[in-house]
Amino acid sequence: MTPTPAPLLTVRDLRVVIGGRHILHGVDLEVAASGTTALLGRNGAGKTTTVRGILGLVPRTGSVLLAGEETVRLTTYALVRKGIGYAPEDRGVFAALTVAENLRLAERPGAGEPAYDLVYELFPELKLRARQAAGTLSGGQQQMVAIARTLLNGNRLIIADEPTKGLAPKVVTEVAQVLERAAEAVPVLLVEQNLAVVRRLARHCVVLADGRTAHRGPAADLLADAEAARRLLGVGSTGRPTAGAPVRTAARPAARTTEADA
Ligand SMILES: Nc1ncnc2c1ncn2[C@@H]1O[C@H](COP(=O)(O)OP(=O)(O)O)[C@@H](O)[C@H]1O
Ligand SMILES: [Mg+2]
Repeated sequence: MTPTPAPLLTVRDLRVVIGGRHILHGVDLEVAASGTTALLGRNGAGKTTTVRGILGLVPRTGSVLLAGEETVRLTTYALVRKGIGYAPEDRGVFAALTVAENLRLAERPGAGEPAYDLVYELFPELKLRARQAAGTLSGGQQQMVAIARTLLNGNRLIIADEPTKGLAPKVVTEVAQVLERAAEAVPVLLVEQNLAVVRRLARHCVVLADGRTAHRGPAADLLADAEAARRLLGVGSTGRPTAGAPVRTAARPAARTTEADA
């Protein structure tokens, strides 16, 4: 039997308290060493806070191992230098700057030659639009800028927080294509609500509920289990809120490792 490669990132009992309020009460997750791992959960479940905790943007306790090295006490600055790229929920693109300027600002000293070849190979459109103000790009193009910035510095892990949120269906497909190609180069932790995108990209998934891990396992198993998808995510397998509507999958019951509230 081929041994499973060790996860790139292992999070254990991640807890975050903000302003006296307990936001995360014990998140456990692994990010696989290759491909895409999806981080799922209803609105307010704690996905963004988990990502911000991993990156040291909020005070946190627990354990965050990056390739076996404990990072939970490191600053964001140090974590970025260790090779974690982040495309935040709001994209964080500088609207008044050109595409090329946005990319130049993402270059990191000491990270080696910026990987413009890779970026422009993955995003030929950004090369064509290099001199265009980023604020005049479409939502999908801005998302490409955000993802491109994470690829410039030879990062070991990319974290993308809801990159398809608010985009038109055709643009969602474009961004999913881009993420798929990015994940061939670098492992991705993808926060995503669109289950069609999860189905296409993710091998593994982690579901949060109320600030803790509620489920971990193969993404295909969760997506094939309409009852579990509805219970954990509040959606049918189409990724849309069910609102009482019948769910269109339920092909086969799936093995799953549900960790009920301990
Ligand atoms: N800075 C903050 N101060 C207070 N509450 C916060 C803060 N950030 C997030 N929360 C709360 O924590 C919960 C989880 O939020 P978040 O991590 O953004 O969820 P998700 O990304 O899964 O939608 C929500 O109830 C949210 O209101
Ligand atoms: Mg969020």
